[in-house]
Amino acid sequence: MNKVTIQTDHTRGKISRHIYGHFSEHLGRCIYEGIWVGEESPIPNTEGMRSDVLEALKALQIPVLRWPGGCFADEYHWKDGIGPQEHRKRMVNTHWGGLVENNHFGTHEFLRLCELLDCEPYISGNVGSGTVQEMSEWVEYITFPGDSPMANLRRENGRQDPWKLKYFGVGNENWGCGGNMRPEYYADEYRRYQTYVRNYGDNRIYKIACGPNEGDYAWMEELMRIAGRFMNGISLHYYTVPGTWSAKGSATEFGEEEWFATLKKSLHMDELIKRHKAIMDRYDPEKRVGLIVDEWGTWYEAEPGTNPGFLYQQNTIRDALVAGLTLHIFHEHCDRIHMANLAQIVNVLQAVVLTEGDKLLLTPTYHVMHMFKVHQDAELLESRCDASLYAFGDERLPQISASASRDGKGHIHISLCNLDHTSDAPVRIELRGKEGAARPLSGSLLTAAGMQEHNTFEHPSRVAPRAFDSFKQEGNEIEIVLPPMSVAVLKLAAE
Ligand code: AHR
Repeated sequence: MNKVTIQTDHTRGKISRHIYGHFSEHLGRCIYEGIWVGEESPIPNTEGMRSDVLEALKALQIPVLRWPGGCFADEYHWKDGIGPQEHRKRMVNTHWGGLVENNHFGTHEFLRLCELLDCEPYISGNVGSGTVQEMSEWVEYITFPGDSPMANLRRENGRQDPWKLKYFGVGNENWGCGGNMRPEYYADEYRRYQTYVRNYGDNRIYKIACGPNEGDYAWMEELMRIAGRFMNGISLHYYTVPGTWSAKGSATEFGEEEWFATLKKSLHMDELIKRHKAIMDRYDPEKRVGLIVDEWGTWYEAEPGTNPGFLYQQNTIRDALVAGLTLHIFHEHCDRIHMANLAQIVNVLQAVVLTEGDKLLLTPTYHVMHMFKVHQDAELLESRCDASLYAFGDERLPQISASASRDGKGHIHISLCNLDHTSDAPVRIELRGKEGAARPLSGSLLTAAGMQEHNTFEHPSRVAPRAFDSFKQEGNEIEIVLPPMSVAVLKLAAE
């Protein structure tokens, strides 16, 4: 029997809603087709953006959206993407399929998208192939309130008032696609570029430095040592790849071994965060600098028959488990994790929405994000999870993972994942503390008949959440049985 003990009157800090952030890159069919279709499109749209996608994303209460890359960010020149669309310079997207883009989706369109989604923009600037002046002028263009060359150019292009812009990334993966720099070199470049990322009017920028890839602890050490005091956040990128980078494995055609390997690799996020946090703690014991996991998620071989440079992949109940487990890890480290961005929002990697022509489907990952949104800005409750073992061959993982929070209205939410692909997971939940007394209980559950189960355009609701009420509640104890391969959220309503 698994046991979860929750201290209902002991909180460990706020789970920033920004942990539930997303990422949209000019990659494959994410921006073009997935979000932007243009006003002339027969696909119903709002100012050129797909109305069905907007509606689906609004329901997720997305707190923050990162753009324009990714690797694309360090070859993007923002001035090519402003002004009348028909006059915009075209560009080759060299990283992703060599597509020639028409730049119809630029700064104004992205910031309008954020307004429509009611989320904060997070813009990544170009260090790899851009200049300090270009980066500085972008910030002036977006945020300068008065009479200045860039603010006036913005007005000529139809936007009178400045936008609010908080999150700004100074480059992306500058150890790789963003310029192949050494940590000492990038740290100095970071110091130089960020100097000219100015605060205008009452706008205050939260500057994010390019951090390490996975377990590159030397990069973290050098960045914190040389540039730590000039940043508000530092990024971390980690993708869950079931196989190797040259043979990643299929999104849908996989067996027990890949199931187990995928979940094991997604749990590796915990070790990465712990070790990077330990380095950050030495340079920043006050925890001023946030760790920003601005790219995470599963990465498989692209779907057969699609352009491999477009990174289009399906999404099964396995991805739902990866999402649930990873979000639980972020909760645990909410003292340092200020933001995280799932890669990517539509049609790319672990997407929440897939589109084909005028059709749309919500993936199992979407449903987890929707079920878990109750944790956004809630207080993390102290909890302990004594999990049974889930064995596969000689290897062992915990059978379940759990996290609990209390929201602003006093409702307590407990999310649970059963990693086990064959067995039910019986769980006894004990609520300690004065707020643990019996409260009205309800729940939702996401599971599937098989590990490869996913939604298709023909069958978009194969994997969808349903009400969950098979629990026993007695005093401060709740007993539930989680089916194999499942994610659940329980709600204990405030009196
Ligand atoms: O998300 C896809 C790519 O992965 C991004 O462009 C890059 O930053 C990372 O390597």
